[in-house]
Formats: sequence, C-alpha cells, structure tokens
Amino acid sequence: MNPAILVHGGCGPRSEADGDDQQSRAGALAAAKAGHAVLRGGGSAIDAVERACRVLEDDPAFNAGYGAVLNEDGVAELDASIMDGASLKAGAVAVVTTVKNPITAARRVMERTRHVLLVGAGAEAFAHEAGLPRIENQALVTEKARARFAAERLATHGTVGVVAVDVQGHVAAGTSTGGTSSKKRGRVGDSPLIGCGTYADDRLGAVSCTGVGEYIIRVTLARRVLELLDRGLSPQAAAEAGLAEVVRLGGEAGVILVTPQGELAWATSAERMSRAWVTRDNETGSAFWK
Ligand code: GLY
Repeated sequence: MNPAILVHGGCGPRSEADGDDQQSRAGALAAAKAGHAVLRGGGSAIDAVERACRVLEDDPAFNAGYGAVLNEDGVAELDASIMDGASLKAGAVAVVTTVKNPITAARRVMERTRHVLLVGAGAEAFAHEAGLPRIENQALVTEKARARFAAERLATHGTVGVVAVDVQGHVAAGTSTGGTSSKKRGRVGDSPLIGCGTYADDRLGAVSCTGVGEYIIRVTLARRVLELLDRGLSPQAAAEAGLAEVVRLGGEAGVILVTPQGELAWATSAERMSRAWVTRDNETGSAFWK
C-alpha cells in the first residue's frame, strides 16, 4: 500500500507571539516530507515518526526541543513519547532538560529498557548512556522563548506530533513538547503519557494530540479517539467526537489521526493548528489556521 504521514506543530489561540505562520507551515511541511521520504524508501512508520519529530524538535518555530517554552524558573523541561502500532510497544521521557531530541530518547526507552516512561534525572542519565549528546539547557532556549517568558507568563500550548502508516500498513505515533509556558517545575502534560497524547494500534490507527494537557489527560484523548473509531465512527467523526469531550471540560486541543488504510483526519477547537501532510495519493499540503 501507499504510505501516508500527517504532522502537527501545535494548536492555540491567535497570538502575536506566534509569529509568522509561513515559518510554522514550512517547518511542518519539511517534517512531513522528511518522514515521507523514510516511508517511500520502505522505512517503517516508527522510523518515519522519529525522523519527522526530530525535524520539528530542531526547528525553533515549534514548542519542542530547541525553541521550547520555559517553565516558571526559566528552564526548558521537555516531554516526548512514541508508540509502535505493530507491537504496541511504547517509550516516553518527561522533564528532561539536557536532551535536544527527546523523541529519540523516548524511542531508546521503548527499545532498550523494560519500561515505558522515564522522568527527570533518570531519563537524562539513560539518554546520555544511550548515546544522545548532553546539551546545556540554555542552549535549547531561543530569544523568542525568552521574550515570551518575560512578556507573557501565560499558558501557551504548542506541541509537535506525527502519525504515519508505512507500506506494510503498520502505524506509529509520536509527540514532543516543552509543555505550557511558565508551568510549574516538574509539571507533566499529556504528551509523554501513552493513551493521552499518543497512541498507536495497527488494528485501529495512530493519534497524536496537542493542546492543554490537563484536559487531554482527563479524557485520555488519543486512546479515546481510537475507541470511537472502533465503534464505527469515521476517522474525521472520531477525531471531532474525542475533541468534543475536551471542549466539554472547558479545554482546548487538537488531534491528528491516521488509519492503517492510510486515511488522514485532524480536528482542533483552537484558532490555529499548524499541520502538514503527504497523503496515500501522494498529495502534499500544509495549513496553519483552523
Ligand atoms: N499538550 C502539551 C502539554 O500540555 O504539555
């Protein structure tokens, strides 16, 4: 079958601090194309998800990796998770401060430990032992993140995520974030929590979420969307119905979904959600506003 990939670069309200939507769209498109190149070459969905997430983490336009928002102490604390729909194996890290690509650390947890989630100093020690370079935390901090921290001190939700299906029909999902701006030290959102920010199951599909983690966690959004799909809703209807449960609690979120047949769907209750895709018909595109 033809592969397909869909990425998001976070959702949120319209804001001057978001900067140029062209930059966000271009970054999302570059990530989608990088992931699709992996798939086109016969690579696995999990390889494509990691590759595309790394592109997003390295791009300061997004709230993940380099350019992530800062916590209440002015520190970038990063979370990420990844899940393989073929095996239902998953890995995640949370509250890491010296790892530039947490998605790769999450994959190492999945592949090299008997655990799913490592946090804080233990996650960092493991990541460095697993070969990920140590980076000074302030080297992750951009001028934009500093300015946002100084000027706003408002909750900002933006996250990156990728869902993909490979030529064999296997699906995978990954999500990476700096969390919410000025969050409490040690705060963990939905992104590293399997079933909340990320889920993948070859029998149903793969989902990555963005938005306010405190709401997404309470409805276990990623898994919930796949449950709704399992009940017979279309991919689009399942994404929208899952999202409606977050909205009912007063939260704001966005979700992307791919099925093992290569159908793509997205939904958001926010004003913007940057996203980019390469469909199973090889159509490429990107968008920023809802
Ligand atoms: N959705 C990202 C977070 O709340 O941390």
